[in-house]
Amino acid sequence: MLNENLFAQPLDQFKPLIDPYMRRINYLRVSVTDRCDFRCQYCMSENMVFLPKKDLMTLEELDRLCTIFIQLGVTNIRLTGGEPLVRRGLLDFIKNMSRHLNTGALSELTLTTNGSQLTRLSKPLYDLGVRRLNVSLDTLDPDKFKQVTRWGNFSKVINGIMTAKECGLKIKINTVALKGFNENELFDLTSWCAQNEFDITFIEVMPMGDIGNENRIGQFWSLKNLRQRLEERYTLIDTPERSGGPATYIKVWETNQKIGFITPLTHNFCESCNRVRVTCTGELFMCLGQEDKVDLKTPLRKYPNDDRPTIETIRRAIEAKPKGHDFDYSRQTIQGQVTRYMNHTGG
Ligand code: GTP
Ligand code: 5AD
Ligand code: SF4
Repeated sequence: MLNENLFAQPLDQFKPLIDPYMRRINYLRVSVTDRCDFRCQYCMSENMVFLPKKDLMTLEELDRLCTIFIQLGVTNIRLTGGEPLVRRGLLDFIKNMSRHLNTGALSELTLTTNGSQLTRLSKPLYDLGVRRLNVSLDTLDPDKFKQVTRWGNFSKVINGIMTAKECGLKIKINTVALKGFNENELFDLTSWCAQNEFDITFIEVMPMGDIGNENRIGQFWSLKNLRQRLEERYTLIDTPERSGGPATYIKVWETNQKIGFITPLTHNFCESCNRVRVTCTGELFMCLGQEDKVDLKTPLRKYPNDDRPTIETIRRAIEAKPKGHDFDYSRQTIQGQVTRYMNHTGG
């Protein structure tokens, strides 16, 4: 039921989104597609069944929804997927969205990508106002790359990353820390990023998806241990820097390189969470690590010329944003797992 009283308070309509724990929501992650040209082991199953096209929000609807969030105080939007750059028409969507960069309402429009399309798309992205990209890369070994992504082409991704760099895009590499897989590449990955002036963030693997068939505990490599290993070679300096995201950062004294750690398992960063997620079907997830969601597609479609019902639905959802996720591997069984695959909510 919609609250009719809200319609009598137009001035309140655009007040910022603040959740019950006094966290200001100013960051929106938008999963523009659940499809991907890779099948990363920790993200999808190999024979993933994707959503029927008819269930997807059109890019016009996603634009309308993002614009509503911007009116409600969202200043940073990150497009994710699946692989965002495989959605047809995405450049036109970004072009339209860049009007919000031009007015200053939006500070940043960025993407998290697997890098497969960057040789072709880096320049257009830069020209449309994108300045920063997060690119997933877990290994520098082409065979291991094939193993972890199942379908990925290593040289295509490296070419794409280098093209993005040449186009002036600032790059952060996301590396999921996987025990027995990329442990022995810690220094190679770190120094490759330093040489290329890329930031790097290590991420603890999260129990998302059909964990019946996956062995996430076996894959789990704690970033506490990873950090100790780095300290064998480098002097690490803690910095108070936060990007507004879950990462904490250190500086490597010897190279001045920035390294981020995303530790959903060993350290919970939820107290400073500033974000919510919209999926390509128009569901709003208040937390990556919880199942609660709210349908925004229905009010958006039902009221094509009136945003207020959608705004009301968003406000109700933010009022129910959970305190945090419950991921935990500590009891030799996985706790707090989430049954949807990562590509559904886009990380
Ligand atoms: P910036 O800080 O803007 O660079 O982005 P980010 O690091 O938040 O975004 P990115 O898409 O690169 O995400 C990196 C990893 O962080 C992914 O594995 C995400 O799943 C994870 N992540 C991002 N936000 C959250 C969150 O709210 N909760 C949890 N548990 N993980 C998150
Ligand atoms: N745990 C941690 N990170 C994951 N990603 C995908 N699945 C998982 C998982 N289960 C990461 C990808 C990408 C980002 C969007 O999410 O490596 O960098
Ligand atoms: Fe695709 Fe990214 Fe998932 Fe890999 S992690 S399958 S690249 S969406």
